[in-house]
Amino acid sequence: MGTGQKLWKRAKQIIPGGNMLLSKRAEMMLPDQWPAYFSKAKGCRVWDLDGNEYVDMSLMGVGTNSLGYGNHEVDMVVRQVVELGNMTTLNCPEEVYLAEKLIEMHPWADMARFARSGGEANAIAIRIARAASGRDKVAVCGYHGWHDWYLSANLGENENLAGHLLPGLEPNGVPQNLRGTVFPFTYNNYAELEALVSAHDIGVIKMEVVRNKGPEDNFLQKVRKLATDRGIVLIFDECTSGFRQTFGGLHKMYGVEPDMAIFGKTLGNGYAITATIGRREIMEAAQSTFISSTFWTERIGPAAALKTLEVMERTKSWETLTKIGLGIRESWQKLADKHRLKIDQWGLPALTGYTFQSPNALAYKTLVTQEMLAKGYLAGNSVYTCTEHTPEIVEGYFAALDPVFALVKECEDGRDVMGLLNGPVCHGGFKRLN
Ligand SMILES: Cc1ncc(COP(=O)(O)O)c(C=O)c1O
Repeated sequence: MGTGQKLWKRAKQIIPGGNMLLSKRAEMMLPDQWPAYFSKAKGCRVWDLDGNEYVDMSLMGVGTNSLGYGNHEVDMVVRQVVELGNMTTLNCPEEVYLAEKLIEMHPWADMARFARSGGEANAIAIRIARAASGRDKVAVCGYHGWHDWYLSANLGENENLAGHLLPGLEPNGVPQNLRGTVFPFTYNNYAELEALVSAHDIGVIKMEVVRNKGPEDNFLQKVRKLATDRGIVLIFDECTSGFRQTFGGLHKMYGVEPDMAIFGKTLGNGYAITATIGRREIMEAAQSTFISSTFWTERIGPAAALKTLEVMERTKSWETLTKIGLGIRESWQKLADKHRLKIDQWGLPALTGYTFQSPNALAYKTLVTQEMLAKGYLAGNSVYTCTEHTPEIVEGYFAALDPVFALVKECEDGRDVMGLLNGPVCHGGFKRLN
């Protein structure tokens, strides 16, 4: 057993769930075998606690590092902040510059607030939107974090949010009286949303612009019109979609403007910073309610974000991310065709994934992860692309993946996949850990 696996076992004894983020649990990737911890990282490479080096062809920090790990320019600015001071009694000026920059990039918005996690930024947006609309009820589509307001959608019916990224989210501890305040709707199902809005006094619609597949039949335009007609605050949660296909929100690509938008993940290229931006008349409602936190004022986040945005703009990183992702998509399909395997593909090009069309899909994903790990890759069935995923890196990844797809084909033809796995099958969603 490697040092990381041993530490993961210790962690589960003293940290409920083992860590702070579901996606980084070893069980989500490769139970009993995943290295779990890193000692250092650079570009798209990660070293574990035993000094083993891996190419990250998986989550890239769960979408945080689209410019790669340890981007020189961003890290230089962070070092400077450390030198000069990260926290004082006074505010950091960078938060003002960052607000100005995000508003300049999104001309429909007039104001911004900052936080340090996506869930927080979502909670802030919901509080402001409810205050502005004067109505409590929210229609949601997509994943919006761990807070009470969102998980309340699963009160009484645990699977309400199942189609929205994570199945099995249990709302224990969320007050029962929040039941009936949040109503999920299905992406691209306009009739469902319209019925919800007509049946309930919905004051806020919050949604991801795109998660697994794009809008059909002018879905986003219709949602915008519905919100405008009924005086509903429309929020686009761009925590994950932002900066991967456009410079800023993905909504810019579709020409649909929300009333508020949320950014996170890659905004600071690995440093904690998230933003909620919006129209003045809505954002001003933040003054009628209390939203305030000490570490939302630290300096590394906004300083890193400003430099990240500068590098993104100069290098047009979103074009590179998209190009790399489209190439990966095409190569997965070619490899699947070569081995006569059937796969489904999903996600933005820059956050691209595939699933084997098989009842054994999760076991095959585990097998891929296991075999690729042995060849020096952190790889599951999805890739958050980064600018450090050079053609050589991607080529190497596919050369390594080719024989693994051959193995999957053998299993499709009757070989027992469980006999090939050195540990249990990975988890497909939220579960209690033993
Ligand atoms: C669209 C979206 N909103 C919110 C969040 C929550 O962000 P965080 O994990 O930083 O709290 C995520 C994270 O995956 C997300 O993808």
